[in-house]
Formats: sequence, structure tokens, C-alpha cells
Amino acid sequence: MKRNILCIGAGYVGGPTMAMIARQCPDRRVTVVDINEARIRAWNSDALPIYEPGLDEVVKTCRGRNLFFTTEIGRAIAEADIIFVSVNTPTKTFGAGAGAAADLQYWEKTARLIVEHATADKIVVEKSTLPVRTAAAMSRILHAGPSAVHFEVLSNPEFLAEGTAMADLARPDRVLIGGAETPSGQAAVAELVSLYAAWVPRERILTTNVWSSELSKLAANAFLAQRISSINALSALCEATEANVTEVARAIGMDARIGPRFLQAGVGFGGSCFKKDILNLVYLCETYGLTEVADYWRQVVHINDYQQKRFVAAMVRAMFNTVADKRIAVLGFAFKADTGDTRESPAIRIVRLLADEHARVVVSDPRALDNARRDLADLGDRVAFDADPYAAAIQADAVAVLTDWREYLSLDFGRIYRGMRHPSFLFDGRNFLDHRALFDLGFNVQAIGRTPLSHLDTET
Ligand code: UDX
Ligand code: UDX
Repeated sequence: MKRNILCIGAGYVGGPTMAMIARQCPDRRVTVVDINEARIRAWNSDALPIYEPGLDEVVKTCRGRNLFFTTEIGRAIAEADIIFVSVNTPTKTFGAGAGAAADLQYWEKTARLIVEHATADKIVVEKSTLPVRTAAAMSRILHAGPSAVHFEVLSNPEFLAEGTAMADLARPDRVLIGGAETPSGQAAVAELVSLYAAWVPRERILTTNVWSSELSKLAANAFLAQRISSINALSALCEATEANVTEVARAIGMDARIGPRFLQAGVGFGGSCFKKDILNLVYLCETYGLTEVADYWRQVVHINDYQQKRFVAAMVRAMFNTVADKRIAVLGFAFKADTGDTRESPAIRIVRLLADEHARVVVSDPRALDNARRDLADLGDRVAFDADPYAAAIQADAVAVLTDWREYLSLDFGRIYRGMRHPSFLFDGRNFLDHRALFDLGFNVQAIGRTPLSHLDTET
């Protein structure tokens, strides 16, 4: 058995994944390294650097037993049998492919570090989402030097979603492992299968060739995002025709071939993966000259951008075509509930568009305020922050709910309404509040893909 497991990159993917392996495989020694010392310090403290329900408990149980966080990358590489690479692969912001291709510089630096410190054969596992055929490049870098050490590169993408990471890791729909169709490739695949088989039923562990595995990760995220853009595109049509997008989603979702999940219309998808991975897919298609295929997937991102612009335009229109100097309370800044993560959050774009209209925006969120402050730092005093949603809404003209936090369902909206300027508007960007009850309290309610509930119409 390959006992020593190492993960390079202690982020949203690496941290929880390794914590789960340590918990499920007490006979393996799991080490997690990162170039960011503050992050490693946080992993070794009581205040972990990321919030995931259930993560604290697993880390507390395993840390110091068979789970270790360290910055001693060289030594950790030398000691490891299996190395997971989970460093970030953001969208390139410079040079060829800027705005679309994956920036592979961290990933390549990591490959070079592995070569420098490895003294015995190792299995290297791509956990980061990477363009198809990256494993070949990685293998070339790993074998470029004079050393006789052999590296077997596997692809093992992670499908966890933030907020449910520990549950997703404990009971994954599937674990995907791609390896070379050579004896050493297949032996490495068998090693990784045996690691996961400690807790994942064997029939859920899928083995493929490397390229299928790499592409499946991009394809899965593209399909999920495409469902969201499809329902969001229809939400615009619902608003124009007085159909109700929630009813339409329910009706189509009951078709077993379509299924009910990922059909929630809203202000669009955020998160570190969907946009990045689709753009990466688009870039790959273009690289292979598949212009029509690239255009098809690019449209998924266009609709997502359009949805946010459309939401702000509808707000301005409802509020008598001006939000200048009006106070707007934004409730929810995280890209979805149960996470403090704000990467690519629709709220970033929406707050910026409102600030462009000279609104006075106050942002509230139960977990994401620190990130929100960083994301909007350049707006200066054009945006304020308040952890208390009631305080944020005082004297506001409108409340815009942008994250579907469960606690927002039990807010005392009567109290919020009484503290606001009237007429008061409520924009439900996640379509999850009780609109009729809010309307009865006095709010003019506008959601996505539904007919607005307005007291103003009835008066005119
Ligand atoms: C990242 C990618 O976003 C995702 O596409 C991929 O599937 C997995 O890796 P995530 O874990 O969310 O996902 O990224 P992030 O939280 O940014 O963590 C990456 C970590 O790698 C950071 O802590 C960073 O400090 C570390 N890192 C980066 C290194 O240790 N070495 C490097 O050279 C670069
Ligand atoms: C996603 C994938 O689900 C996961 O498998 C992959 O490993 C990483 O990317 P994540 O980004 O954590 O996970 O969140 P997810 O739950 O997929 O939600 C992404 C975004 O879509 C959120 O902004 C969410 O609010 C939005 N969404 C989701 C909708 O707008 N409607 C839906 O019906 C579902």
C-alpha cells in the first residue's frame, strides 16, 4: 500500500478532500502543503481558512494523527508516494488566451518542484481542473531532467460543491480516475482506486483514459452551468409573457429525462469554477478549430452576464428610472448559501452596476463580509457594509436579496419594511422568499421570471 499521501495546494479543494481521505483512511499519512504560510497557519489553528459545514470536526479529529499541514514542501515531496496537485488554475489575464485559457503557471511550477525533490517513483494526481491533454505536458516536465525517477500522472478531478463539500466527499455520485493505458498507468489507477475504495462503493469509482477524465470535469461543469443559463434565459421570456418560471421549472423538471435539479432561476451562477471552466472549454474548442462548438458554450456565459444586467435594469425601472442617491440594502454577497466564498459572485457585478447608477449600496452577509470588503475595496465610500440585515435596510428604498441564505427566510420583514423609506421595494434575486406575504406587508415585490407584485400599479 502507498502510505504517504501529499497534497500541494491547501485551498477549497485540497483542504477538505485531504481531510476526508485522512478520516476514511486512518492507516495513511496525509500531508497538505501550500506556499501561503498564513493559510497553513490557519489550517493548524482553530479558525480554519475556509468554512464548510462539518469540516472543523474532521480536521480536529485527524490533525496531528494522520493529517498534517506544513510549508515544508521539499521534504513532503521527498516522502510522498502519491502526490495530489490542487493548486489554482485561474483564467489567464495576460498574453495569448487572456480571459479564456487556464493560467498554468502555478501548476507548472509545482511540477518542477516535484522533479526537484523526488528521489523515488511517484504517482502524481491532477486534482486541479485542467485543459484536456495537460497530463501529457505534466508528464513531459516531470521526465525532462536527468533523474531516473518515474512519475505516473493520473487525472482525478474533484466534483465537490462548496457548502456541501464534506457530504459530497463522503458520498460522491462518482469518483473519476483517468490513467494511461499502459501497465504502469493501470497499476497507478489501481492504487488510487484502492485509496477511495476505503469508503466509496466500487461501482461508483469510474476509470477511464486520462483525456476522458480531464474533459469530463469541464463537461460536467459546462452542463450544470448550461442548465442554469437555460432556465435564466426562459425567465426573461416568462417576465414578458406572465408565465411563472418556478412553475415552468417544476413542470419540466418532473420529466424524468430532464430532472428537477439545477433549474433554479436567479441572478446567475457564480463560484470559482463554472465561468472559468466554460471559458477554458471554449478556448480548447477554438484551439482545435471548432468555432461553432466554442460559440455554443460561450453563450452560456453570455446569458449569465445578461441576467445580472437585466436584474439591475429591472430594479432601476421599477424604482422610477433612477436609483441615484437611493439607499439599497443588498442581502447576501456569497456566490451561494453556506459559504463565505465570493469568487465570481453575481453580487459583485450587481453592486458595481448599482454603484455606477449612483445608488448608495449597503452590503450585508452572514459569512462573506470580509471577502465583500476586499472585492469592492475600489468603490471606497460608495458602498457600506453591515453584518446586521436590519441595520442595512434602515431608511433604504429597496432590499435586493442576492444569496439564498436560509436565515433570510426567517427575517422579520415587517420590521424591515417599517424601517424603510416608502414606497419600499424588494427584489428577490434568488426567487426563494414568500412573495405574497412580502407584498401583503407593503413591499413592491419583484422576483425573477415572475410578474411583479406592485401596490403602485393598483393606485394608478
Ligand atoms: C483550485 C482551482 O480553482 C480549481 O480549478 C481546481 O480544480 C482546484 O484548485 P481551489 O482549491 O478552490 O481550487 O483553489 P484555491 O482555494 O485558490 O487553492 C489553491 C491553493 O494552492 C492556494 O492556497 C495557493 O496558495 C496554493 N498554491 C498555489 C500553492 O501551494 N502553490 C502554487 O504554486 C500556487
Ligand atoms: C460547482 C459544481 O457543482 C461542482 O461539481 C464543481 O466541482 C465545482 O463547481 P460550486 O461552484 O461549489 O460547485 O456550486 P454550485 O452549487 O454548483 O452552484 C454554482 C452557482 O450556480 C451558484 O452561484 C448557485 O447559486 C448557482 N445555481 C445553482 C443557480 O443559480 N441555480 C441552480 O439551480 C443551481
